[in-house]
Order: sequence, then C-alpha cells, then structure tokens
Amino acid sequence: MKIAVIGSGYVGLVASACLAEMGNTVICADNDKKKVEALRRGVIPIYEPGLDSLVERNVKEGRLSFTESTAAAVRGGDIIFIAVGTPSDEDGSADLQHVLAVAAEIGRSMDGPRIVVNKSTVPVGTAERIRDEILKYCDHPVSVVSNPEFLKEGDAIDDFMRPDRVVLGTDSPEAAEVMKELYRPFLRTNNPIYVMSNRSAELTKYVANSLLATKISFINEIANLCDIVGADVQDVRRGIGSDSRIGPHFIFPGVGYGGSCFPKDVRALRHTAMEHGYPLRVLDAVTEVNELQKKVLGVKIAREFGRDLSGLVFAVWGLSFKPNTDDMREAPSLVIIEDLLTMGARVQAYDPEAMDCARKIIGDGIRYCSTGYGALEGADALVLVTEWKEFREPDFERIRGLMRGKTIFDGRNIWNPEKLRSMGFTYHCIGRG
Ligand SMILES: NC(=O)c1ccc[n+]([C@@H]2O[C@H](COP(=O)([O-])OP(=O)(O)OC[C@H]3O[C@@H](n4cnc5c(N)ncnc54)[C@H](O)[C@@H]3O)[C@@H](O)[C@H]2O)c1
Repeated sequence: MKIAVIGSGYVGLVASACLAEMGNTVICADNDKKKVEALRRGVIPIYEPGLDSLVERNVKEGRLSFTESTAAAVRGGDIIFIAVGTPSDEDGSADLQHVLAVAAEIGRSMDGPRIVVNKSTVPVGTAERIRDEILKYCDHPVSVVSNPEFLKEGDAIDDFMRPDRVVLGTDSPEAAEVMKELYRPFLRTNNPIYVMSNRSAELTKYVANSLLATKISFINEIANLCDIVGADVQDVRRGIGSDSRIGPHFIFPGVGYGGSCFPKDVRALRHTAMEHGYPLRVLDAVTEVNELQKKVLGVKIAREFGRDLSGLVFAVWGLSFKPNTDDMREAPSLVIIEDLLTMGARVQAYDPEAMDCARKIIGDGIRYCSTGYGALEGADALVLVTEWKEFREPDFERIRGLMRGKTIFDGRNIWNPEKLRSMGFTYHCIGRG
C-alpha cells in the first residue's frame, strides 16, 4: 500500500520504518526541515534500539523516503497517518494545534478520497474535529480512523512489529477492512484487532496509560509505607505480582514516572473528565503521588547529609526517564538534579544516550561526564536514577576507589543491600525498610 506518515518523531518514524519493512511504500513528512535533512543523510534524530538499521535498509530499498512537504506526502499516499505531538496545554488539556494544522494541510492537499489514520494520542471527539477540519478545504470522501499507538520507547520496533492488540476506531466498515489488511502482517500470532467507535478508541489509549501510571503511583506509595513500617517492598511486590489478577508488570517502585506520555496523558484524561463535570479522583491522587515521588531521593539525601550540600559532590547515573531512550521529557532526573543544586551540591552526571538531550534542558549548571566511572571521581555520593543495563552489575570495588564518600542512593532498587553494606557503603533505596 502507499502510505503517508505526517510526523517523524518517536511514533511517526517507527511507524514509517515498520510499515515500509512490511513492503509498503511510505513517505514520511515532517515540518522540521533540519530533521528531514538529517533523515535524508541517514542520521536518526532519536535513540531507539534497532531503528537506524531499519530506516537505512528501507531507504536503500526504495520503500521509505522523507519530505518536508505534507502536501507531497498526502498526494503520494492512499492512507495518511497523523503522528504529531499532542503536548499538555497550560490547563492540562491536550494541545491539538499540531494535529489540527496537519488536518487542514491534508484537506488542502487531497486530490481524491483518502483514509486518514490518527495515531496521535487525542481526547475523545478529536476524530470528528479532524474530519471537519479536512472537509473545510476539500469535498473528497474521507474516513478518519482512530488508531492509538501503544509502543514503548526503548522497545518501539518490537512493539510495533508484534503489537499485543491493534485498536481501530471508525464508523466505516470499508476503512476498517483496509486497516485490517494493512495490519495483517503484524498480527501473525493472532493477537486481536478491536474495531470500535472513534470515541472508544480515543479513550482506550488514555485509559491504558492512566492505569499503568496508577500502578506505578500505587506501588510507590506502598514502598514509602514499607520504609516507615520496616517491610521490604521487593518482597511485597513479588508476593502480589504472582497473583494472575495483579500481574508482575508496572509494580516496580522507583522515583516516579516521567516521559512524554504518562504525565501528559493522565493530565489530559483528568481534564476531559473535569470538562464533563466528573472529576477522576483516583487520577488526581496518582498525579499528586507521582510529583511527591520524584522528590523522594532529595528527601533521603537531605536526611543523610542535611539540607546544606555545599562542598559535596553527587554523581548521578541515568538521566533519561527510563532506560533505552534518550527522551528527557518530564524525567524524574530533572527534579532530583534541581533539588541537589538547590541544596548547594555539585552534580556530575552520566547517561549512556541522553547526554545531549539533557544538556539542552539542564544547561551548564552540572558537569557532564563521558563514563559512569568518570562521574564518580571525588563524589561524596552516587545517585542511581535510571536503571540502564550497564549500571546493573558495576564494579563496586572500583566505585569505592573512585569516590570520596561511600554513600549510595539507589532510586530503582537494582543493587543488593547486604552486599553493598558489607563493602562499607551506606546504602539507601526505595521501600526496603
Ligand atoms: N513517544 C511515545 O512513546 C508515544 C507512544 C504512543 C503514543 N504517542 C503519541 O504519539 C504522538 C506523537 O508522539 P511522539 O513522541 O512521536 O512526538 P515527537 O514530538 O517525538 O514527534 C512529533 C513530530 O511531529 C512533527 N510535527 C509537528 N507538527 C507538524 C506539522 N504540522 N507537520 C509535520 N510535522 C509536524 C514534529 O516536528 C516532530 O518531529 C503524541 O500524541 C504522543 O502522545 C507517543
């Protein structure tokens, strides 16, 4: 099939490459000229494992190309995917300006009937607004399909290639059939396609992310309670996770959720509910707990060293909001570093992939180190924020030799408390009594 994808970010670029990999011809458009130029030179603007080789192969084989012209993409595709950002507006609602601008551009450029597939995460009712916007500029038949994306950054290729399910919101049986045909190669293990109304599909995405965020905030509160009552949240987590009604996923305590999706999607769903006069009290609490959780390491640090950290050096390992991505959007590391700087500490940070993105947000107030061990030189404490694989089994003898102090704050509970304490470290973690 001939496909246009508008937006070449985490979702648009992954979708473009994966759709091309299945043999479709894909034109990916982005209004960021620099991004398009980089993509044309074979430079992938984001870090996502496996994406570079997938893009390279499909470009070389002539199935994937890039343009800064949405109009050219729309004219070259029978199915048009919208995959542009929907950031939070000031009031917490999803800002639809990019989605609606693309819809208008599609309407202005259409030269015949099209299926327009919205992959951006959008509030209930947006499909109707997209259709109305397109029809302001043309009178060709258009079907708008709401097709929320469930990929996870860091595993995006695998998630797109083998989705647990595909959700299609549409009132057009013909469009549903075309979309089923498009997704057929991705569902060879018989994972389901659910066809539903646009509104239900739009809501499904927000509900999925909000429930995952709820699990995280719930276990974080329980971890904090464990600290108070002297229980070990790792044991509690295992004890509940083996119950098939609960499941083992998303109940790992830590320093709060971040990223480009959970925070903004929870806010947007709360906003939609408020607009309809039905506040979602559970999600209000989820958000509040998360904001507090991002500060939990700062509180533990102040308890250990006092609130005046001047003269002390903190090594921070991991800056991205989770491993295997360079995405820094709403990363807990930002809050932790801000707390450290506010208390007067000096910070030496290292992340395997997110250093450039981090520098753009944090600026020059901290030292960026090219290795994890480099960040430890002369440090009074090590703060583990993001659990990249390379941090899982570090050489603690070497760490001890490099650091000035011997205090470790493990924000992800990845290290063994007994081992570290037996080596003379003062070890703090989350919810282990
Ligand atoms: N990142 C994720 O893990 C993820 C997962 C599922 C769903 N989503 C949703 O998918 C959508 C896209 O997310 P993302 O992370 O890929 O965003 P992103 O910010 O990484 O990428 C968006 C891209 O769209 C481009 N763009 C903006 N306006 C445009 C326009 N008018 N014409 C052409 N291009 C334009 C931008 O230049 C940018 O490259 C969001 O709604 C997000 O909530 C994201």
